[in-house]
Amino acid sequence: MGHRAAIVGAGHTRFGALDAGPRALLRSAVDEAFGSVDRGAERSSIDEAFLATLGFGGWQIGNSSAVLAEEAGVPGVPVTRVENACASGGAAIRAAVRAVEGGARRLVLVAGLEKMTDVPNARRRYWLGVSGDTEWERLAGLTFAGVYGLIASRYLAEHGVGPEALEEVAVKNHDNGARNPKAQFQKRVSRADVRAAPRVADPLGLYDCCPVSDGAAALLIAPAASARTYTDAPVYIDGVGAGSDFLAVQERPELTRFGASRWAADEAFHAAGCSRSEISFLEVHDCFTIAELLAIEDLGYAAPGAAGRLTLEGATRRDGRLPVNPDGGLKAKGHPIGATGVSQAYEVFQQLRGSAGPRQVARAERALTHNVGGAGATACVTIYSRG
Ligand code: COA
Repeated sequence: MGHRAAIVGAGHTRFGALDAGPRALLRSAVDEAFGSVDRGAERSSIDEAFLATLGFGGWQIGNSSAVLAEEAGVPGVPVTRVENACASGGAAIRAAVRAVEGGARRLVLVAGLEKMTDVPNARRRYWLGVSGDTEWERLAGLTFAGVYGLIASRYLAEHGVGPEALEEVAVKNHDNGARNPKAQFQKRVSRADVRAAPRVADPLGLYDCCPVSDGAAALLIAPAASARTYTDAPVYIDGVGAGSDFLAVQERPELTRFGASRWAADEAFHAAGCSRSEISFLEVHDCFTIAELLAIEDLGYAAPGAAGRLTLEGATRRDGRLPVNPDGGLKAKGHPIGATGVSQAYEVFQQLRGSAGPRQVARAERALTHNVGGAGATACVTIYSRG
């Protein structure tokens, strides 16, 4: 179907418990994005910007767009904050693609940001909860780990799958994170470590969960036709898709499949005009290990209940036939909520340009990112190619 837009520059802070405040994080990711462009991208070239952030802890929950304009050095440019919980980054990329498609905008800045670790523990639980259903889940005391724990129990029972499949997701993603200098956790863990870790929401333990993280990421997105003005190695965006569902999981017909992911994927593949088998690797939203298995199935790469076997066979490892989360995923790289979807595109930018160093996926030609808000309430899927 042709290219819809192109990423011509990308930046990314380290993820983790960082000393830097939100403004400094934004500045650093945006500066790196501008610095990564080969030529011709001035601050004055930006004519639209989007900021993906939840506003965790209440930090500038209103009007944070102006902070991006200030810190990126683009005052005067229209900036819109995009908030779709953990899928904010994917939704902001989709908005940027729509803005450049047809040449309406010349160069669009997308930034994702969250500062989470300076919020005290009890308040953290509150701010993690705001993206779930308030009446039936949050006020009843159900955390996100709790919701995904219920989903995991049901999945294992429904499909007769053992906990080893979940353990293997954690082992693989920690192994990939150990090769990523920007990841929060750069340490390998064994299946025995995962099994022995403290329980968070049975059957999920500490190593089945993404951490609480600070971080920012940024992209410069241009119309496909002008991409080579800025770089000889653009990464094209060929299709975007988005979907939503009932907010509370109890309202949905199935607990172990996310309709929002399936609809977003169908739309993105249709827009890109390519098939599942043409994708070289996936960056999926593994906020909990069970979520990676659901993603592989919802995106159409395994039948319901079969993603565990694929994982245990090694197919999803960096050198397997369908690498999943070569950057370590949310599990090991970290999950600063608004930054995550933008960070996934940053990884695709590195991989498709052959710049991913020790975590490089061989022969990476096309990639897919999958970004979920809440426990499957919203989702964005994006498909990229090397051009
Ligand atoms: N994976 C691996 N190690 C982790 C970890 C994780 N997810 N979270 C914390 N750790 C480590 C820390 O580095 C620390 O190690 P150290 O003792 O060697 O320094 C240790 O575990 C304790 O860290 P702490 O921050 O006190 O953990 P915690 O018990 O307060 O929090 C969780 C652990 C899993 C409850 C927390 O990370 C969490 O809530 N994660 C889910 C976030 C979430 O829901 N996001 C939205 C998804 S939809």
